[in-house]
Amino acid sequence: MSLDQNQLKQQVAQAALKYVEDDTVIGVGTGSTVNFFIDALATVKHRINGAVSSSEASAQRLKQHGIPVLDLNGTGELGIYVDGADEATRLRQLIKGGGAALTREKIVAAASRTFVCIIDESKLVRQLGAFPLPVEVIPMARSYVARELVRLGGRPVWREQVTTDNGNFILDVHGLDIREPIALERAINDIAGVVCNGLFARRGADVLLVGRAAGVETL
Ligand code: 5RP
Repeated sequence: MSLDQNQLKQQVAQAALKYVEDDTVIGVGTGSTVNFFIDALATVKHRINGAVSSSEASAQRLKQHGIPVLDLNGTGELGIYVDGADEATRLRQLIKGGGAALTREKIVAAASRTFVCIIDESKLVRQLGAFPLPVEVIPMARSYVARELVRLGGRPVWREQVTTDNGNFILDVHGLDIREPIALERAINDIAGVVCNGLFARRGADVLLVGRAAGVETL
């Protein structure tokens, strides 16, 4: 039986439940795959103490399910963080930020021992970069950062109409050569006015679950 993309997302989200430990606070990402994870998490909500969310949208969904949403400043280190990705390699390096939540996602991932990334097989790539790289910028630095991104070989496009949960803008950078993701992640972060970029390479996922028609592959 072939599964459509939503069924693959649901299947891989369900598989992430096995990483949820009793009496802990769970880090929760953002996006349509994570929405399936939040729905699955609701079925075991009595076993956990709550969640730290990477976005207002996920916080709202968690609350709708009656899962307490906690402030990261009060929780200490988290055991696991579960989130999706826009692209992933078999080395578990990622592009994230399609939902504009990349900065909080990177913070919650950094504050967690294990980052469990959940994707359907369409997201698995040999080399990152076909998906335009999201970069969150301070509004007054938008044009300056865009010029610097052109110097790095990219074609930045302002995601107009979008303001992040942190009050900033997003530039989606097309055409970057991402053969060295760790070096590029650092170079973009070094541009004044950049808050965060969507390369998760220095700290990629610790576990990558890939939803496939034949079942969930663990990398
Ligand atoms: C949001 C993200 C998401 O994880 C990414 O965009 C994947 O989303 P989806 O599960 O809807 O495909 O990084 O900022």
